[in-house]
Amino acid sequence: KFDGLAETPPMGWNSWNTFGTDINEKLVKDIADQFIELGLKDAGYEYIVLDDGWMSKERDVNGDLVADPIKFPSGMKVLADYIHSKGLKFGLYNCAGSKTCAGYPGSRGHEYQDAKLYASWEVDYLKYDWCNTGKINAESAYITMRDALKAAGRPVVFSICEWGDNEPWKWGKEVGHLWRATGDIINCWDCEIGHGSWSSSGVWTIINMRKDIRESAGPGHWNDFDMMEVGNGMTAAEDRSHFVMWSMLASPLIMGNDLREMSKETLSTLINKEVISVNQDKLGIQGFRFSNENKMEIWIKPLDNNQWALSFVNMSDDAVDFVFDWQKHPLSDDVNGRYLDLNKEVYEVRDLTHHQNLGDTSKKLKAKIASHDVVVVRIGK
Ligand code: GLA
Repeated sequence: KFDGLAETPPMGWNSWNTFGTDINEKLVKDIADQFIELGLKDAGYEYIVLDDGWMSKERDVNGDLVADPIKFPSGMKVLADYIHSKGLKFGLYNCAGSKTCAGYPGSRGHEYQDAKLYASWEVDYLKYDWCNTGKINAESAYITMRDALKAAGRPVVFSICEWGDNEPWKWGKEVGHLWRATGDIINCWDCEIGHGSWSSSGVWTIINMRKDIRESAGPGHWNDFDMMEVGNGMTAAEDRSHFVMWSMLASPLIMGNDLREMSKETLSTLINKEVISVNQDKLGIQGFRFSNENKMEIWIKPLDNNQWALSFVNMSDDAVDFVFDWQKHPLSDDVNGRYLDLNKEVYEVRDLTHHQNLGDTSKKLKAKIASHDVVVVRIGK
């Protein structure tokens, strides 16, 4: 593995959630342009990742992968150059099996050859999936690709996409920079949709699927709760909560919407730098559930400089007048040995959704929170 990469959760965009395999050169260039024009690059987004569907169905006579000549007539190196010329980074997708999930050629048996090709195209990020793998061992399959990338010599963020059956949080740290912990996300608040042998899960379904893996996350190695569905059909409040939760979880922030057509509200959610700074905090501690009584999900995340982030999501169908008494809620993170008793200390409170100071922790926090909406604060001296 290349170290020193993904010291904070990777941020970027991936084609899959909106476009599936229906991707092309013009679209990707437009997306790169939007990164600059909309301030997404300034907010920290960096990687543009083409998911499944970028290849031709067959390798060439030398066994090399080929970019689909109709979708990508100029080829991948030219596209990579364009993305790099904007100061952004370029990612591709493939799969550990004989074929990708959508039936394009997989890397099995071609790992070193494919890694060399990616290096020649100046690929910076590889998402590596887990379809059509037969009986191969997951950890060793991902190690093979990691070693192949390393041998090719170009530093690459390696994104393990194994969905959790083989518990990548137990071995992923040495192998990749992030690993999916669940099956695929879908654009709903809390639902599960079956597709025969597999199913897709909404935002809270995904969050609740993996409760005890936070110890595996840290600088250079992250639990990946999947590409975001912000801007893909949930309400603005739900999108805000989704974005805050991914930030609290120190999940990679990979946008999955059509950046050419998003509302102002979606954009302001995605470029909320104060929320992003919670995600990108350099300690890299994954936040965790503090309580979930009375349909209020309260999560906390210790931050650098003795600060803490707290998020309050209203899970009910009605707005609530929420009150939080700091004095009655000592904060503790046993895993990381961090404690804060607000009877003994007074901290300033900053509202990261509305960008305002709310006084300090000697007074109760009071907020009206709409259904499925969120308040997120940072407390510190
Ligand atoms: C799997 C992955 C998705 C996407 C598709 C592509 O389902 O989990 O994120 O990459 O394959 O076919």
